[in-house]
Amino acid sequence: MLDARPGSVYTGPVHIAIVGAGHIGGNAARLWSRAGHDVMICFSRDPGQLQARAAELGDHVTAATPGYAVAGADVVMLAVPWDAIDQALGEAGPLAGKVVLDATNPYGTAPTPAAGHTVAEFNSARMPGARYVRGFNTLTSGFQAEASARPRDERAVLFICGDYPTAKTTIAQLIEDAGFEPVDLGSNHDAAVMESPRRPGSVYGEEYRLPEALAVADAVAHGRDILPPPMYDLDRGNA
Ligand SMILES: NC(=O)c1ccc[n+]([C@@H]2O[C@H](COP(=O)([O-])OP(=O)(O)OC[C@H]3O[C@@H](n4cnc5c(N)ncnc54)[C@H](OP(=O)(O)O)[C@@H]3O)[C@@H](O)[C@H]2O)c1
Repeated sequence: MLDARPGSVYTGPVHIAIVGAGHIGGNAARLWSRAGHDVMICFSRDPGQLQARAAELGDHVTAATPGYAVAGADVVMLAVPWDAIDQALGEAGPLAGKVVLDATNPYGTAPTPAAGHTVAEFNSARMPGARYVRGFNTLTSGFQAEASARPRDERAVLFICGDYPTAKTTIAQLIEDAGFEPVDLGSNHDAAVMESPRRPGSVYGEEYRLPEALAVADAVAHGRDILPPPMYDLDRGNA
């Protein structure tokens, strides 16, 4: 349950609706169920199989329609293909007041942000009143599944951005519960380094651990270019 005190996060299981429980959303459902959160999955081309999918994902995972799942959720994760976002948001219903975690990337044929604008700016404008946070979008689902059980000092970083500090605090705690280190790259506008595609000067597609990720956050905050991504020795967990 979310705690309403300013700056605090949660004191018990969070009610999480996952809109699109495929590779990214299904993996998050599994990890958050394992951490004891109440997860409801929704939005499928074959709704009849969602209950079985929920059972497969964990003891704390159930299935519902998007409207029902989102209405009862504190946190809503959007993890659908780019071209299905309008339909997903339409079926989800009002998001005002909800913490919304957007994992989508703009691969598809639907309109994308204009030059100089981020997906975070573009998509947050499609969700009036939502406490929008972008995250879980820079690393593959396979990597996220494999890296979630590491010891703390070898944890991979999941970057976030957004314009609502308290919502980012909530998502940061959920990222820790999932087995990763959260690092905040600032506002929806500032976090262009989180956007696809993989390219020099971005964190998209790259593994970071906490010290190097904090250096990225500092560079972004001060308008500097970021250093090339680190190479980690997986045997020793050192850069
Ligand atoms: N895969 C990755 O490594 C990765 C990494 C970072 C970010 N992302 C982003 O995360 C989002 C989800 O990616 P994903 O790989 O998890 O996708 P996915 O495996 O294809 O999952 C998509 C989910 O959306 C549901 N869905 C409902 N209606 C749909 C429709 N009309 N068309 C397609 N799917 C529909 C699917 O359910 P049914 O199959 O039951 O219909 C499924 O649960 C994308 O925006 C992607 O760019 C992906």
